[in-house]
Amino acid sequence: MQDAKEEIKARLPVEDVVGQYIELKRAGRTLKGHSPWGVDKTPSFMVSPEKGIWHDFSSNKGGDIFTFVMEVEGISFREAIEKLAAQAGVELKAYSGDDKKIAQKKARMKQAIELACKYYQVCLSKNKAVCEYVFYKRNLNRKTAVEFRIGYAPKGKDYLVNFLKSKGFTIAEMREAGLLNQYNGDLFRGRMMVPFFDNTGSIIGFTGRIIEKGEPKYLNTPETLLFNKGRFIFGLTQAKEAIRRSGFVVIVEGNMDVISSHQAGVKEAVATSGTAMTENHLKILNRLTDDIRLAYDGDAAGIKAAERSISLASKLDISLKIISGYHGAKDPDELIQKDPALWQDCVNHCEPAIDWLLKKYELSLDLTTGPGKKEFSDIAMKMINELQDPVEKKHYMGIVANKINVTVDDLLAKKIPTETTRLKPIKIAETKPEEKEDQILKNLQDSLEAILVYGGTAGGEIPLEIPTDEARLAELELIFEQCYSKFSEENLKKEASALTIRYKKEMTKHKIAELTRELESCEEDESKTADIIRQIQVLRKSL
Ligand code: UTP
Ligand code: MN
Repeated sequence: MQDAKEEIKARLPVEDVVGQYIELKRAGRTLKGHSPWGVDKTPSFMVSPEKGIWHDFSSNKGGDIFTFVMEVEGISFREAIEKLAAQAGVELKAYSGDDKKIAQKKARMKQAIELACKYYQVCLSKNKAVCEYVFYKRNLNRKTAVEFRIGYAPKGKDYLVNFLKSKGFTIAEMREAGLLNQYNGDLFRGRMMVPFFDNTGSIIGFTGRIIEKGEPKYLNTPETLLFNKGRFIFGLTQAKEAIRRSGFVVIVEGNMDVISSHQAGVKEAVATSGTAMTENHLKILNRLTDDIRLAYDGDAAGIKAAERSISLASKLDISLKIISGYHGAKDPDELIQKDPALWQDCVNHCEPAIDWLLKKYELSLDLTTGPGKKEFSDIAMKMINELQDPVEKKHYMGIVANKINVTVDDLLAKKIPTETTRLKPIKIAETKPEEKEDQILKNLQDSLEAILVYGGTAGGEIPLEIPTDEARLAELELIFEQCYSKFSEENLKKEASALTIRYKKEMTKHKIAELTRELESCEEDESKTADIIRQIQVLRKSL
């Protein structure tokens, strides 16, 4: 594997790989561009062709071509190396034993699923009534049907099973691929079939829409080695290019909304398939863009789902925009059937989630009464307090004050329970702050190691080891050149000792957070609990 990695690196210059995703401009020995993750106003993403590495100063990530593709595409190392191997024309043979078995299994599953998809496509072309449903009732055109590889699973016990048997697949393999029901017959029957593509274009599963009456309306492939619904984003393969080009993504509720939207020219549409939005979904999309627009159905369930997604996103420090008001249609698909231009219009006229929420609360509360005003301002101020930008804060406070006829000072005088005081501290340590802490630590460590290795005598007191990994050293050199090359020796020394103090503090905090988590898992064991609490107290004192 190491050899394959080196061979791929040798064939694919880092600036070419990165250049497929972001625009790079030469600046001396390095190339610069805008971070694909941060919101940098000046280019903070550096590539060093000589060293074969990249570093992003806004999100504090860095590495080689493999880590870049993993981060930017949201894929595993295995997937990244496969992708780059294909680009480089390198054959990946050297797998370790277990990996090899799993890889073989997956390959076999993919073959079965690919054949199933072809089979469904042929079945569609032969069935006039179903063609009528797909092309007239759902209004898909031929091009869309081909691009999304729409098919039809015939109504019968085991058409697909027999077909795959004739192609040499065993029942066990079909089960593994998620194609069977509990009686070893076809899982999908009498359904319009829509395949799920992974980011390499392979099919990993299906969703099937019932054509005649019946339940459930949609049936999805169960979780398999290939298909994980908490990570899978429907339409992303087809949407990726458009998302990168226009800089935004539209999340709709239904898979058919995605397909209709693409046909209507809004190719930035994706959906979470048969499941509510997860953190993974958001993180994957956030790697591509930070303009994430939510277009959920206007019914009560859709609004609830939107609210849930907004609060999930705010926990991850992602701000969503909301697309709403489909001119009376119930979902994007229905709107597009009316007029595709109306949908394009909706997508362009999105609003920040906070505006959408404020309007919603304004409508649901009675703002003429005292308690109504109190509740409205409680909710509003809680949201406003989460905003980072002072100008933005002021803007919304102005709006809220106006709505309930008070001054901004009145609002500021309110005591608003913050997230931190309301939730149990342990919960907090579990989620966002923990990630933030890791970020801070990583940042400090980067800086300190860079000074340690490249800062001459200034690095003398730094309590860290010199890394031996070459890629890491190259990354540190880049960090040093960008951040510290202009420092005098004396200033660098001062910087190093200030950073060291902060680093030690953060390490202590990190340890406390770890112990706090441990505390949660040993509820039963009293002496262990007491011991951990003692340790935490000692650490707290040293802060
Ligand atoms: P909807 O009921 O809104 O369906 O479910 P839709 O997308 O408008 O479908 P059409 O237009 O009636 O064909 C939204 C999404 O919820 C999931 C599917 O992913 C669907 O796209 N769903 C819905 C299921 O997984 N199973 C179901 O039985 C129903
Ligand atoms: Mn619909």
